[in-house]
Amino acid sequence: MAKYRIAWLPGDGVGVEVMEAARMILDKLEFDAEYIHGDIGWEFWTKEGNALPDRTLEMLKDTNCALFGAITSKPKDEAAKELDPALREKGYTYFSPIVRLRQELNLHTNMRPCKAYKGNPLNYQNDIDLIVFRENTEGMYGGVEFHPVPQTVFDALCVHPKMKKFGEHSLDDLAISTRIMSRKGCESIVYQAFQFAKEFNRRSVTVVDKPNVLRETGGLMIRSARKLAENYPDIPLWETNIDAQCMWLVKNPMDYDILVAENMFGDIISDLCAQLVGGLGFACAGNIGDNYAVFEPTHGSAPKYTGMYKVNPIATVLSAKMMLDWLGETEKGKRLEDAVAAIIAEGKVRTYDMGGSAKTLEMAQAIAEKL
Ligand code: IPM
Ligand code: MG
Repeated sequence: MAKYRIAWLPGDGVGVEVMEAARMILDKLEFDAEYIHGDIGWEFWTKEGNALPDRTLEMLKDTNCALFGAITSKPKDEAAKELDPALREKGYTYFSPIVRLRQELNLHTNMRPCKAYKGNPLNYQNDIDLIVFRENTEGMYGGVEFHPVPQTVFDALCVHPKMKKFGEHSLDDLAISTRIMSRKGCESIVYQAFQFAKEFNRRSVTVVDKPNVLRETGGLMIRSARKLAENYPDIPLWETNIDAQCMWLVKNPMDYDILVAENMFGDIISDLCAQLVGGLGFACAGNIGDNYAVFEPTHGSAPKYTGMYKVNPIATVLSAKMMLDWLGETEKGKRLEDAVAAIIAEGKVRTYDMGGSAKTLEMAQAIAEKL
């Protein structure tokens, strides 16, 4: 019997291709795992009205963790148009399966390292080494939204004087998305950031929000950060606003180290950080809970490149490295990262985003041979 059971979730679009690449490398590493395929993605939305079928969620329970490729994700109305006609009017609503996985499995911490590997022609500056800790289940992406707005919700909100200006609209002409944050959620993400900073000797932790405008939720985040920071007297805590932080990351990326943020701000800032080190082709992520984790490249399914085996698999390969580390297979994780770094440094094999012509599996092959 294999040592690990890994849920294998290619998804759709280029997700399938980058996962094939990751598998070549895991096999070459002789990672002792059994891989169990799970249905997830656009196809299952259109055919079954559920992009994350229950059988997949069930299957995950019997695995150590999952590696996930990519999925097509569309706004509700566009998604509804692609649903099998036989399923329309049956009340199916599209939800992003990765967001559902994060929430249903309580994968509260989204860790997104962004490192400028030497020799990457796409580096914005050399030596950038940032990690975003994004709260992964609450906040603006918590999914508590209304349209049309139910009367009871409207009435309840009317305790707030600022609601007066919305009274002139019909409930159908209003939409509400909430940003609900808990002390536990804020403290937990800040804790993960500081613990990591301590364990790996990082220079600072920067909490990014917007407490001057989002006074209550932003305030809770900042207060939580200050409280937690007291336990780490050697690690400075910096507090910044999301807008200014975006500017400073472009201006002085070297000034920052660990960044920690609420769900939506973490989503935004992690794409910015990814671009500083070569873009989404290099951006790996771990959605981590107390006992389970799902690792994934942060890029989407890139429909226009589907079937071309063209996209850069490094984001997925580095996600596999995060998976190895999380499982405690750190020696294999290091070998994998060293091989990626060596291929980037040599500059002989480059995918299209790096200005080269290597295909997805050629890049994977080159990394596998370096191991
Ligand atoms: C990400 C993505 C997702 C998110 C989408 C696909 C729902 O942008 O992982 O960053 O917003 O969380
Ligand atoms: Mg994103």
